[in-house]
Amino acid sequence: MSLDHARAKPHERLATLLAPELDAVNTVIRERMASQHAPRIPEVTAHLIEAGGKRIRPMLTLAAAQLCDYSGHHHVHLAAAVEFIHTATLLHDDVVDESGKRRGRPTANLLWDNKSSVLVGDYLFARSFQLMVETGSIRVLDILANASATIAEGEVLQLTAAQDLATLEDTYLQIVRGKTAALFSAATQVGGVIAGADEDKVQALYTYGDALGVAFQMVDDLLDWTGGAGIGKDIGDDFRERKLTLPVIRAVAAADSGEWAFWVRTIGKGRQEDGDLERALGLLQHHGTLESTRQTALNWAETAKDALAPLPAGELRDMLRDLADYVVARIT
Ligand code: IPE
Ligand code: IPE
Ligand code: MG
Ligand code: MG
Repeated sequence: MSLDHARAKPHERLATLLAPELDAVNTVIRERMASQHAPRIPEVTAHLIEAGGKRIRPMLTLAAAQLCDYSGHHHVHLAAAVEFIHTATLLHDDVVDESGKRRGRPTANLLWDNKSSVLVGDYLFARSFQLMVETGSIRVLDILANASATIAEGEVLQLTAAQDLATLEDTYLQIVRGKTAALFSAATQVGGVIAGADEDKVQALYTYGDALGVAFQMVDDLLDWTGGAGIGKDIGDDFRERKLTLPVIRAVAAADSGEWAFWVRTIGKGRQEDGDLERALGLLQHHGTLESTRQTALNWAETAKDALAPLPAGELRDMLRDLADYVVARIT
């Protein structure tokens, strides 16, 4: 192994190992994001897809299939379907969150409008289901259809929990499992299913993806407070949207009366002023809730790694293990 390879981030090493399949996935994505009749579709999708993205979810599908000795070609279609679902949810999510930056670029809702983002997102969802059908596997369709419903459910639950200072950690976990972990676990699971793997392996892949997804979103929520330029998104979106993410839930639980009044004004009532974001961040630091959230994410990463035990030992499994460490350590 070259030094460069050893130093690369786990998802970059995975990308190197899976390069031929990942190239094939990117080809399918480019083919299928086209539309003969509505040029707005490829304009919007190209803007987002060509900006890159880490491609973690499609790599999970490819890696899972390969770990289970798959020798067909449907995993490429599945990985593309998974990335399409992800891209569709990002288009919708940036409308819902009124976000202005994604993958280092202005969001589609900002460059075009909300209508285009919603409709192109719908188109990509539909395209993803066409890809799944091509695999001929009803089980795969079942898993990804369920995941799609669960993602939407998670986003809606988040919408109704926002601004509510009584939100508990249980609700937060349910939101995170829905909006993010559901696609991670479906991505890993369908890789095993398409390979015809034994149930214990499929279950292991599910558990790994679920725990990895929870850890990933917890860290995404940290980065919304502390992220640098590399994250390619604006920081402070969650506070502005009055979302009760884990560091905030824990700081609210520890608040004295002055701090409680601050949270009621800024998150409960949404009356935010200049300097509030900094003050809020100061409170999270004061109560150590950024650290404790990272610790909770670390525990989920450990759960993910433990789940890998029934899968065949080797380079791919090692990379999935390293990926779990990376999603907690990451700064982008
Ligand atoms: C962003 O996911 C949405 C979340 C679930 C936090 P990623 O961080 O994987 O986004 P890209 O694809 O790399 O841009
Ligand atoms: C991401 O939620 C989950 C989905 C896109 C379904 P967030 O709103 O937390 O993710 P970012 O921070 O915008 O990527
Ligand atoms: Mg968002
Ligand atoms: Mg969101």
